[in-house]
Amino acid sequence: MAKKVFIKTYGCQMNVYDSQRMADAMEAEGYELTDMAEGADLVVLNTCHIREKATEKTYSELGRLKPLAEAKAQSGSKMVIGVAGCVAQAEGEEIVRRQPLVDLVVGPQAYHRLPQLARRASEHNAAGLVETEFPAEDKFDHIPLAKRALGPTAFLTVQEGCDKFCAFCVVPYTRGAELSRPAEKLLREARELVARGVVEITLLGQNVNAYHGMGPDGREWSLARLLHALAEIDGLKRLRFTTSHPNDMSEDLIAAHGELEILMPYLHLPVQAGSDRILKAMNRKHSAAEYLSLIERIRKARPDLALSGDFIVGFPGEDDADFEQTMALVREVGYAQAYSFKYSARPGTPAAGNDQVPEEVKAARLAALQDLLNEQQARFNSRCVGQTMPILLEKPGREPGQLVGRSPYLQPVHLNAAAERVGEIVEVRIEQAMRNSLSGVEA
Ligand code: 5AD
Ligand code: SF4
Repeated sequence: MAKKVFIKTYGCQMNVYDSQRMADAMEAEGYELTDMAEGADLVVLNTCHIREKATEKTYSELGRLKPLAEAKAQSGSKMVIGVAGCVAQAEGEEIVRRQPLVDLVVGPQAYHRLPQLARRASEHNAAGLVETEFPAEDKFDHIPLAKRALGPTAFLTVQEGCDKFCAFCVVPYTRGAELSRPAEKLLREARELVARGVVEITLLGQNVNAYHGMGPDGREWSLARLLHALAEIDGLKRLRFTTSHPNDMSEDLIAAHGELEILMPYLHLPVQAGSDRILKAMNRKHSAAEYLSLIERIRKARPDLALSGDFIVGFPGEDDADFEQTMALVREVGYAQAYSFKYSARPGTPAAGNDQVPEEVKAARLAALQDLLNEQQARFNSRCVGQTMPILLEKPGREPGQLVGRSPYLQPVHLNAAAERVGEIVEVRIEQAMRNSLSGVEA
């Protein structure tokens, strides 16, 4: 019987992509992917370190795995337990010290070593293998693409790491320096995905719009250049990219939003805060006014653009007036959707030692901001009612006979359609708007 691997993913979409690639790597080793930890021969937690809560989740999940590992041992075989992702990178050996159950720790740049580590852990009962190097080679080069069926949408990591050093953020430490994958490899991988039925590709990077990979012509390509080249692939119907820094929104990328029909009119462009004083303390290197004028320029290129963003409330030193400026900025932009978080001090980051805002103040600000963002999202969704829009049918819905698709603005859309139509883009008249989704009928 084939060995089974279970991978649980936390955090961002980069982790989702990495988990798929780890699954691919283990599949090439003869493992089968399973959707439960129970009975698995290899369990990998692909972790997130971005906020303290996210990190703590890793340890509580490891605790829950203990009885499953014991049951497996009783049946005469071993459950190898691995921790991957940003907690692995940040904590390394500390994880094994805190939870001796862990057999292997593998950082985000070393996933191609997972099969070998898993082999060593299972065959020799080696414990506490830790691999958190940043090797020079591209980890993805050594992993063949999955044989298992792909859905109509796929992620493609084009860039990793970050050189921006925002004062709150662990990413430059866990994911390392900014690195772009060569354009030719990406084009090849994208063509392969499309040949296997993928019609929408989302380009991923912690700082995706800083992409500057080597092109086949021997010159560095910008993200806009890469998007233009990808748009030529026959059969590819939609492109997206995430996540972007305002300072890397170059002129050619702004223009691409008007030039490329295949590029969806939805942009995740985090600003984090609306007060210039706080933006400066965050080391964001742009002002609120610069962000607003940037939005105006992108909207000029693509008038139907919908915006998404990230916000942090309660950054050290943030007072009521600063927070009010965040609220004012949100009102001015009008987001279709956004994420907001209480500041969480991360060890080793510059802001961690500074004057912390009291927890209850953070909580109150977050509630106020989320009320406003929810209201904007509801307004955006209800404005879609009565419109007809192209929906990419992605997967079965909860009810029989129902499919869920995505609008150009990334909203989930429920409608009745036969299961075999997954992968089609159909015109749908939107009839109802819910908080986080829409429903409609084929036009
Ligand atoms: N505390 C709270 N939120 C954070 N983010 C990043 N670091 C922190 C932190 N220390 C948020 C930012 C970022 C998103 C991925 O997570 O808003 O854009
Ligand atoms: Fe978590 Fe950030 Fe790492 Fe993604 S990049 S896994 S969100 S810490």
